[in-house]
Amino acid sequence: MAEIIDGRAVANKLDERTKQQVDEMVAEGLPRPGLTVILVGDDGASQVYVRRKIKACEKVGIISTEHRLPAETSQADLLALVEQLNADPEVHGILCQVPLPDHIDTRTVLRSISPDKDVDGFHPVNVGRLSTGTGGIVPCTPLGVMLLLETVVDDFIGKDAVVIGKSNIVGKPVANLLLDRECTVTVTHIHTANLPEIASKADIIVAAAGAPELVKGSWVKPGAVIIDVGITRIMGDNGKERLVGDVKFDEVQHAKAVTPVPGGVGPMTISCLLANTVQAARALAG
Ligand code: GUN
Repeated sequence: MAEIIDGRAVANKLDERTKQQVDEMVAEGLPRPGLTVILVGDDGASQVYVRRKIKACEKVGIISTEHRLPAETSQADLLALVEQLNADPEVHGILCQVPLPDHIDTRTVLRSISPDKDVDGFHPVNVGRLSTGTGGIVPCTPLGVMLLLETVVDDFIGKDAVVIGKSNIVGKPVANLLLDRECTVTVTHIHTANLPEIASKADIIVAAAGAPELVKGSWVKPGAVIIDVGITRIMGDNGKERLVGDVKFDEVQHAKAVTPVPGGVGPMTISCLLANTVQAARALAG
């Protein structure tokens, strides 16, 4: 039977470490880390995510501030707010929740956030730092993927890793992080020819294509480690909705370890945001 990697337990451990780091900073007389979240408009899912992020800050002692702006906020006003937050010494992390309303250019806004406060790791400067292995802030989900892998992979060097999905926020950064650990990385996607055959050679599979139950049991080598980043709500046979990942979970019991959906990568994401905020605060403190 495959080991089921408990994302909630790993995330709780990370939160404990983050809280300790916050306490240490305060004990050293450094400012308490502060995260500011910007939410434009009233998208229901975004409101839930932002509430979770703010609540998580409390748990580890990070000061959180929320800016809720109406959907009709102009791009210029939003950029002016970001500029003000970039200059505010009490703000160490800035997160502008996406999606933004259609009249706002998301790329322009995300690029206006100071790279040193970009706790999402979306700014091109941080993307560049990651792809050149020169530090910077690592995006939350890819960081979570690596921390989960570390709980079950003893030695990354020379392992065959297959990343399924080429998104800027998961697939590409995960591929870079695995390369940094000396894995041999193949980046694939839903148009890749022979995807089952390529996946079946892998020691590590990171499934992040957003394609429900794409990865079948026959795609997985016995003893492989699987991280399932996908999360899709589908209608089950019994007429009830259920959440599924990109991996056919019941078919991969011959793997060494696999993350469940939900309860795998999901819980790690906010914990990594908190860790990134403390990292940014430390770096800004000099
Ligand atoms: N919307 C959904 N997830 C995220 C995230 O991780 N960061 C931001 N900025 N917006 C999101």
